[in-house]
Amino acid sequence: MSYIICIASGKGGVGKTLVTAALSIALQRHQHSVLAVDADMGLRNLDLMFGVQDSVLYDASDIMKGKCHRQDALISLADGLDFLAASQKRTWEKVDAPTFHYTVEHLSANYDYTIIDCPPGRGQAYKAAVAIADRMFVVVEPTWTSLRDAGRVMQFCDKHKQFNYDILCNNFFRHDPAYVTVDEMLSVLDPESIAGILPHDMVLQQAAKEGTLIHVDQQTPFFQALEQTVRYIESGTAPCVSSLTALLPLCEGNSATAPERPVAAEVPSLLKGSAIAELQQAAAILHGQPGKAAPVTADGADDVQEKGLSVRQRRQQSMAWRHYHR
Ligand SMILES: Nc1ncnc2c1ncn2[C@@H]1O[C@H](COP(=O)(O)OP(=O)(O)O)[C@@H](O)[C@H]1O
Ligand SMILES: [Mg+2]
Repeated sequence: MSYIICIASGKGGVGKTLVTAALSIALQRHQHSVLAVDADMGLRNLDLMFGVQDSVLYDASDIMKGKCHRQDALISLADGLDFLAASQKRTWEKVDAPTFHYTVEHLSANYDYTIIDCPPGRGQAYKAAVAIADRMFVVVEPTWTSLRDAGRVMQFCDKHKQFNYDILCNNFFRHDPAYVTVDEMLSVLDPESIAGILPHDMVLQQAAKEGTLIHVDQQTPFFQALEQTVRYIESGTAPCVSSLTALLPLCEGNSATAPERPVAAEVPSLLKGSAIAELQQAAAILHGQPGKAAPVTADGADDVQEKGLSVRQRRQQSMAWRHYHR
C-alpha cells in the first residue's frame, strides 16, 4: 500500500507545486515508485513543472466520470514516476470528493509513495484533498503572512486531531534582513518537528519555468537539502535544525558575508505589535499552554469589540452596511 503525503500550505504561492514535483523526483531517484497527483482542481500547475502540459489528454475528473480507464489518465515521466493531472475546468465544488479519494487510493496501490499537491488554505478544497493522506507537509516561506497562515493550518490540524503533519520550510536563506529567519519562524510556530528547510534556488526556479525539473542535477542546493526530507520519510527520524540551516545560502545573492541584521527594523510595522502577539498566542494555544495565552474567539479581536451584540443585531448591522454600499 502506498504512503500518501499531502503538500499543503496556508498561503498560496509558497512553493507547494514545486516541492511536490521535486519531492516526487527525489523519491524516484532513491529507487521508490512514485505517483504525483495534482489536487488543485481548476488551477492545476504540476503539469507545467514537469513540462508535460501538452501531453495531458485525460485528468482525474475524466476517470471519475468514466470517460477513460484509470491507467489512461496517468502520464509516465520516468521509470517509476507517474503523474495524474487535476481537472482544469472543474473546481472542487464540482468534484465529488469520495470518488476522488477512491480513485487516488486505487491508483496509489501500485506505488511506494503518492505525493499530492493540495490547494492552499484550510477550506473545503483543502479538506477534500488531504482526507486520504497518511502525512501532511505544511509548506512555509520566510514571510510573516505565510507564517501566520501556516499557524492557522497547524491550529486547524490540532483542533481536528490531524497530528501527522510537519512544517516544511521553503525559499529560505540562512541570514537575510529582508526575510523572516529560521529562528524567528521556529520561535513563532514552535513545531514539534520539521520535515526540512529548502533554500531559495535560482536553478530550480528556472527549471520550474521551463518544465525541466526532472533533469536538474542532484548536487544543486535545493536537491541536497531535500535529501534530508527524503531520509525523514524513509526512516521516520526528523532532521535536526542545525544540519538543515548549514545547507542554506547565506543571504540573497549568496553573498559570503551576511549583512548585520538590524533588530526589529525590518519587521513590517503592521506586524510589530498585534500580529506577532497573535502568532505567539496562537502558538501557545497550539502547544497546549493556555496559561500563556488569552482565550481567543473564532473571529479574534472583532468579537471583543462586538461583545454584547446579539446575532440578530449583528445581522441587522451587516444588512444596513450592505444596503448603504449598494
Ligand atoms: N525554493 C525555491 N527556489 C526558487 N524558486 C522557488 C522555490 N520555491 C518556489 N519557487 C517559485 O515560486 C513560485 C511559486 O511556486 P509554486 O510551487 O507555484 O507555489 P504554490 O504551488 O504554493 O502556489 C514558482 O515560480 C516557483 O518556481
Ligand atoms: Mg500550486
